[in-house]
Amino acid sequence: MNNLLVLAGSESKHLGLAVCGLMNQKKLTKVRLARFSDNEVDVQIEENVRDEDVFIINSLPPPAENILETVFLANAARYSSAKRVTLVIPYLGYNRQERKDRPRVPISAKIVIDMLKLARADRALLVDLHAEATAAHFEPMVHDHLYGSYSVIDYLRELLPKPFVVAAPDAGAVVRARKYAQYLGLADVVVLNKERVGAGKIKENKIKIIGNVRGKNVLLVDDMIDSGGTLIADAKALKEKGARKIYAFATHALFSKGLGVFPKDLFTEIVVTDTIYHDKAIFEGHTRVTVKSIAPLLARAIENIHTGESLSELILG
Ligand code: R5P
Repeated sequence: MNNLLVLAGSESKHLGLAVCGLMNQKKLTKVRLARFSDNEVDVQIEENVRDEDVFIINSLPPPAENILETVFLANAARYSSAKRVTLVIPYLGYNRQERKDRPRVPISAKIVIDMLKLARADRALLVDLHAEATAAHFEPMVHDHLYGSYSVIDYLRELLPKPFVVAAPDAGAVVRARKYAQYLGLADVVVLNKERVGAGKIKENKIKIIGNVRGKNVLLVDDMIDSGGTLIADAKALKEKGARKIYAFATHALFSKGLGVFPKDLFTEIVVTDTIYHDKAIFEGHTRVTVKSIAPLLARAIENIHTGESLSELILG
């Protein structure tokens, strides 16, 4: 196969560098990520990619320019005669809006995926989509869907004091939570049934806990932390029902309202991955947050795609 080249967009330089470091200190392919005077996105690949196997890593949290940057980089690689272009999207922005759950709302996830497809990349590599079915919108583009569990499960196994239970923050999260329970040697999960109003906001006093948490430590498992509102309301409800220590894991940590919103002593520890970059300084003086890198997962996946090997070993069974 042709040479493997790794490019990183503005949101994922940390992952690009880490992935390259794990590949015998490979160098990131140089790209210019700039803005025109009116702030339009201005990118250029600064090295030859002709006939090469190109992987473009970029997460897509707001601003929407991250989406444009990724599409433009992929398109630049395509029109520069790359042999194959793979989009590596650690966090796919807008993927929570994946169905028409209220009248007159768009299916934003599909639109974002359609925009990505416009670049005419050959494949996509995704991590922990909110809903498994969303990946199908990438069709007919070949896509692989990986999970944060690969990067954290050993750590969680060491971390959680017995007796503990795994909890799903809502009915939609049960399948994911059940997987973690299984990896951690538990047969079942606790479910926090809740009412959401408007765009995902929850009614705190309407959380119904299905399962027994009294005297147990609890691990809440979610795909993402945005404002933190869901986790905080859940942790309070769990404490009211007699839970002991509360831990949380989410693959994608937006922390859109900062760490200050998490009341001190509510969580013993929050575990996240680095699909979204945060300066270490934001964690200081707040609830303990441990960041596990998904770079080893991405590096293995990229190498396996490059050499035509299966990715199954990267998905915990
Ligand atoms: C919702 O279905 C998601 O899985 C998360 O629970 C939610 O998006 C987290 O958002 P926030 O942190 O703002 O409550």
